[in-house]
Amino acid sequence: MKRFPDDFAWGVATSAFQIEGAVAEDGRGESIWDRFCAERGRIVDGSDANVACDHYHRVADDVALLRWLGARSYRFSIGWPRVMPDGHTVNPRGLDFYDRLVDQLCESGIDPFVTLNHWDLPQALHDAGGWPDRDTVHAFVEYAVVVMRRLGDRVKRVCTHNEPWCISTLGFLNGEHAPGERDRTRALAASHHLLLSHGHAVRALRAETQAELGIVLNLVPAEPASSSQEDLDACRAFDGAFNRYYLDPLYGRGYPADVISDHPFVREGDLEIIATPTDYLGINYYSRNVIRAGGEAVTVSDDKTDMGWEVHAPGLFAILRRVHEDYAPKKIYVAENGAAYATAPGADGRVRDVDRVRYLSTHFEAAHQAITAGIPLAGFYVWSLLDNFEWAQGYTKRFGIVWVDYATQARVPKDSAHLCRRIMLANGLALEELAS
Ligand code: FCB
Repeated sequence: MKRFPDDFAWGVATSAFQIEGAVAEDGRGESIWDRFCAERGRIVDGSDANVACDHYHRVADDVALLRWLGARSYRFSIGWPRVMPDGHTVNPRGLDFYDRLVDQLCESGIDPFVTLNHWDLPQALHDAGGWPDRDTVHAFVEYAVVVMRRLGDRVKRVCTHNEPWCISTLGFLNGEHAPGERDRTRALAASHHLLLSHGHAVRALRAETQAELGIVLNLVPAEPASSSQEDLDACRAFDGAFNRYYLDPLYGRGYPADVISDHPFVREGDLEIIATPTDYLGINYYSRNVIRAGGEAVTVSDDKTDMGWEVHAPGLFAILRRVHEDYAPKKIYVAENGAAYATAPGADGRVRDVDRVRYLSTHFEAAHQAITAGIPLAGFYVWSLLDNFEWAQGYTKRFGIVWVDYATQARVPKDSAHLCRRIMLANGLALEELAS
């Protein structure tokens, strides 16, 4: 019987900007994502996150949903511009909001897992230089300390940054995400300052909290399209730029020489700080890439989610094993895994999201396989609790296990939420029993 350990951290994940709305309330400042949404042509459906899931006003209902699900833990992010609207001055009403949320979670027996930076940098900090500027490192540490001084006594896990690859590559190289720049040098600077601020924050936060400290990376296992040397080389290059560029420095190896031999932004001592020991590594896994010469990802299967990402559960096991073997983090969490499918309520109101049920069940299986193989996987967070604002895709992509009717803000648990409920409530429930 495939049972998960009793203390396995089953949970769901969200982020502040994607669900909260209430962007002008209680002293919140502007973030780079507010600014980006207001620029024509940036978001595919022309939408913004001004209301999103209106979570800011519906916290009690959403915590009740988490209780109903049987989630043992909830991963959410702190809205940086709520807490520090201008990037430096503390807004007590912003902190109060998260303080109440953490209390409600604790009263419900749900462990809070706090992400400090899920992309919503205060616009004022960007105007002063943003991630390409080394001063932002200190602004982040200042913010991290303020938040954990307030919440650190109750929070179980803290993540410094969510997916630094996305911030640096999509934000500064491809221009697909805020702040929408296309500049290789600035992208390089941003990625280094993100990693550096992670290390500094971990050091500073040890004094503020007993919580487990770590970072969350989006990792993509890469496979060569063929055994030709050209495909193998392209695959290695992709893995280097996507995965090793972050993993190597975090685990004390410095930047991989085959990706970057002389990093222009590294100063003496930086690499030691980046490699500050952490308690866990969070991995966001959605899909694999099959790479051919030239670096292009090739389509090998038509089984794809609405994002166009291939459904490939063995890739989850592959990336967990690889990270365990090559880097040996003390603990690993799957900090996000999930799928975008548009499936809407039927005439009877029920959301039969069979594709998502299949996606999640097979990925739960892969997680179980990892535990059996001795990989220290300690939890699994489904992305996402709610359909929400999917960044540049606006509201066109639905990742929720709970349907959100944006006109009424009604929440309808989909069949996938019922699946999660069965496994989360029971925790030890065997996967075989789930099928029945
Ligand atoms: C990840 C992000 C998360 C969400 C999912 C689909 O890259 O961390 O906010 O957008 O993808």
